Amino acid sequence: MGKPIQIVNSHRIAERIYKLSTCSEPTIGVTRLSFTNEFQLAQKMVEKWMLEAGMTVRRDNLNNLIGRYEGKNSHSPVLMIGSHLDTVIEGGKYDGMLGIVAGIEVIAILFENGIILENPIEVVAFCDEEGVRFHSTFLGSKAIAGTLTERDLEATDEQGITVAAAIKQLGLNPLEYQEAAKEPKDVFGYIELHIEQGPILEKEGIACGIATGIAGLSRYSFKVEGFAGHAGTVPAALRKDALVGAAEIILAIEKLVKNHAPLVATVGKLSVKPGSSNVIPGEVLGTIDIRDTNQYRIKEVIQAIFQTCEEICTRRGLTYHVEKVMEAPPVYCCEEISAAIESAIQENGMRPIHLVSGAGHDAMAMADVTKIGMIFVRCEKGISHHPDEHVILDDLGIGAQVLLDTVLKISNYHTTVKERF
Ligand code: GLV
Ligand code: MN
Ligand code: MN
Repeated sequence: MGKPIQIVNSHRIAERIYKLSTCSEPTIGVTRLSFTNEFQLAQKMVEKWMLEAGMTVRRDNLNNLIGRYEGKNSHSPVLMIGSHLDTVIEGGKYDGMLGIVAGIEVIAILFENGIILENPIEVVAFCDEEGVRFHSTFLGSKAIAGTLTERDLEATDEQGITVAAAIKQLGLNPLEYQEAAKEPKDVFGYIELHIEQGPILEKEGIACGIATGIAGLSRYSFKVEGFAGHAGTVPAALRKDALVGAAEIILAIEKLVKNHAPLVATVGKLSVKPGSSNVIPGEVLGTIDIRDTNQYRIKEVIQAIFQTCEEICTRRGLTYHVEKVMEAPPVYCCEEISAAIESAIQENGMRPIHLVSGAGHDAMAMADVTKIGMIFVRCEKGISHHPDEHVILDDLGIGAQVLLDTVLKISNYHTTVKERF
């Protein structure tokens, strides 16, 4: 018979999610890019909640915030929980934030019940998962996993500010990034709770699911170059319109991808230069994001996209350049952690459902240093990366409770009675 433990406080979670959503640029939804004022404001809030939950808090040189709840044996490998604090442009309140807030809630419950586990736990608010500002992704989790390189710090934002410069402005020393890295022997595992960002759990009528793995993800940037000119005087046949070329490339990608399902590819960002209504576009810069659980298929489709770009640009008298920005192969969740999540889900009265994540997560980078597990929480209509992203109050609590129960199981701490305070 274990000791009684209170259940998580879903209202506290909802209130904190709301508070974090106010740390945003003045847009619809939430816009909080890495290392900005809004980001630092959100980080301050998280720091306060970590301290209130009995954690010691530190910031590494990549601007990850790490709350540590000491174990009985401070030298035993640490169990890490976390997610990201950055958002997409005009995103929702839950993507990333829910994993951090739920992690803090888990520790708050342990702290309020005077429970010290054998192993320490660290809750991490990662600095850059979406990769919107630098088109990078996983800067923080790669630093902790020990896979970050100096090249990652050289990526620039639209203002030409490098990752290193943005971090330096916060009073940190990005060149000391290796200090953030964990040794595999020092980490027991990493668990991330995240909204599903898809419709399956809602369709099945279940609040939580288990991720079995995460699809691989590759990002490229491309440039199509033509020749700018007067919009009124250059006859159609003599134009080298970079935007029309890029449009044809995008449609060709759409067609190619249809033959390679479930692979998906997205051109999510275009910038047209010089960008004037009376000037023929001379240059287009864009991004391609490709995902699949099968890395070979990703490579095959990328080759086909390159070939298509070549054909289209040659025919139109344009030139093109494509560059790989990042690549993360598919990863698989650890069976032992997934089994603990599954039994926590069942004990909370739910049927276990296994899902593959199409979205990227910090867990992908953390898989390079430790075993990973992921809990998915149902979100309304599967909407994500959108201001309408929503999770109902009950599901906030159920998700955090499953995370707490998973942490207790993995840490070999047994409880049987749950009481609401
Ligand atoms: C992150 O949310 C991604 O999958 O791009
Ligand atoms: Mn996201
Ligand atoms: Mn996310």
